[in-house]
Amino acid sequence: MKTVAFHLQKGGVGKTSLSGAIAYELARKGKTIILDLDPQGNLSSWTLTESPKWELAAVLFGRVETAAAILATPTPNLDILPTFGLDGELKLYGENQLASEPFIFCDLMEGLGALGYEYAVMDLSPGMGRLERAALIASDMVYTPMTPEAFSLDGIDIFKAELARTTKAMKRGPTHRGIIVNAFDSRIEQHKAIMSQAWELQGFELYTIPVDPCFRKAQADCVPIQALAKGKAPKPETLAEIKKIGEAICR
Ligand SMILES: Nc1ncnc2c1ncn2[C@@H]1O[C@H](COP(=O)(O)OP(=O)(O)OP(=O)(O)O)[C@@H](O)[C@H]1O
Ligand SMILES: [Mg+2]
Repeated sequence: MKTVAFHLQKGGVGKTSLSGAIAYELARKGKTIILDLDPQGNLSSWTLTESPKWELAAVLFGRVETAAAILATPTPNLDILPTFGLDGELKLYGENQLASEPFIFCDLMEGLGALGYEYAVMDLSPGMGRLERAALIASDMVYTPMTPEAFSLDGIDIFKAELARTTKAMKRGPTHRGIIVNAFDSRIEQHKAIMSQAWELQGFELYTIPVDPCFRKAQADCVPIQALAKGKAPKPETLAEIKKIGEAICR
């Protein structure tokens, strides 16, 4: 099983939007599971139309078997271990029990592989706490979404340094595969300037997603961007770039 995380410590850069869109692409290629690791539960609310009986935190606390907490989404081949933010169980787990079992997500991934999943996609919350670090060390690769604004490249440097520290301390960690410049507007000079600096970063796949209202619309309608009705459909550049990221993850 290949495990991919979408993360940057900064909020609102498109982690949830991109992980949701890319999970849909991966589900076209093989059995895929989303792990909603954000206590806000945004990806679960986007993907599911009903509240689940169990959430991911119940699996982590050992209250339910993993298989019993997995839910099918309306997309074929795409399942989810959801989080619903109401009672803050995931946050509670991260702040307490996780300290004594820092490799729990590595074990969880092994279990998901044994259940036949080919891809696992993790949406993380902003910040770089114990929960995010434990999830990152259980990933094979991480893609970093960023929005092209002041200090965004500093944010990438901070992320790289945090990832290196975590990998060193835990003796394992993901490959930082790519940077996704999200909500790019080619008419804005600052966006163009940041993009050209991003091209100079070495050792990364680089992708650009334009400003595209499809994400907001898909999240409001609880459907994948790829399944939006004609008048609301994504820009061709958005779809092409999402497809390219999906193909890179599969390689
Ligand atoms: N390319 C885009 N063009 C326009 N709007 C976008 C784009 N990508 C994401 N958005 C919108 O921006 C908002 C923030 O996106 P999203 O929730 O995916 O970010 P996030 O990094 O997951 O946020 P958080 O840090 O709170 O988890 C959402 O309303 C989403 O619909
Ligand atoms: Mg999010």
